[in-house]
Amino acid sequence: MKTLVTYMTQTGNTQKIAEAIFDGITDEKDIKDINDISSFEGYDLVFVGFPVLQFNIPENVSKFVSENVAGKNIAFFMTHGVPEGFEAIKSWTGSTKDIAASGNLLGTFDCQGKVAQPIIERLEKSDDPEMQAFAKMAAAAPNKPDETSFQKAKEFAKEIQAKVQ
Ligand SMILES: Cc1cc2nc3c(=O)[nH]c(=O)nc-3n(C[C@H](O)[C@H](O)[C@H](O)COP(=O)(O)O)c2cc1C
Repeated sequence: MKTLVTYMTQTGNTQKIAEAIFDGITDEKDIKDINDISSFEGYDLVFVGFPVLQFNIPENVSKFVSENVAGKNIAFFMTHGVPEGFEAIKSWTGSTKDIAASGNLLGTFDCQGKVAQPIIERLEKSDDPEMQAFAKMAAAAPNKPDETSFQKAKEFAKEIQAKVQ
């Protein structure tokens, strides 16, 4: 069995989770930036990771997955600036089910990731109280993902791998 861990990242948070997932896989495995792959061919299981951007899954990730997922075992992992368990995450990322519809979706993992300082400052300056609240939540988590996040990601990788074997 061969597993691919692929990810999109802008500031490194999702890459760190990708590395923890990769660490948790015990079979043959590759880890690659999503920009460096052209398909999921040759893999029995793929983990696809992304940061939540603008209350959504990044367009390039949705497109790549929906075009390549047919018949594949897939699991998602994502990082976001809001705390884990924040209710809206489900609606921001619920379409993972749709984009993976022609594959076999085995699970999703999410965790908080620190937000780049210029973004926090932009949110703080907003007139919108909701944006100011996001700024506060993000500013309160300057060290995420952390060791606990990596441990949970590793466990997630093992759980998903066990579903395929
Ligand atoms: C332009 C932009 C938009 C973002 N939008 C959201 C969002 O809608 N919800 C959220 O929880 N976090 C949002 N974030 C925070 C990122 O999802 C978070 O910092 C993530 O861990 C970044 O991952 P990366 O380091 O792999 O790029 C946004 C960040 C940026 C830069």
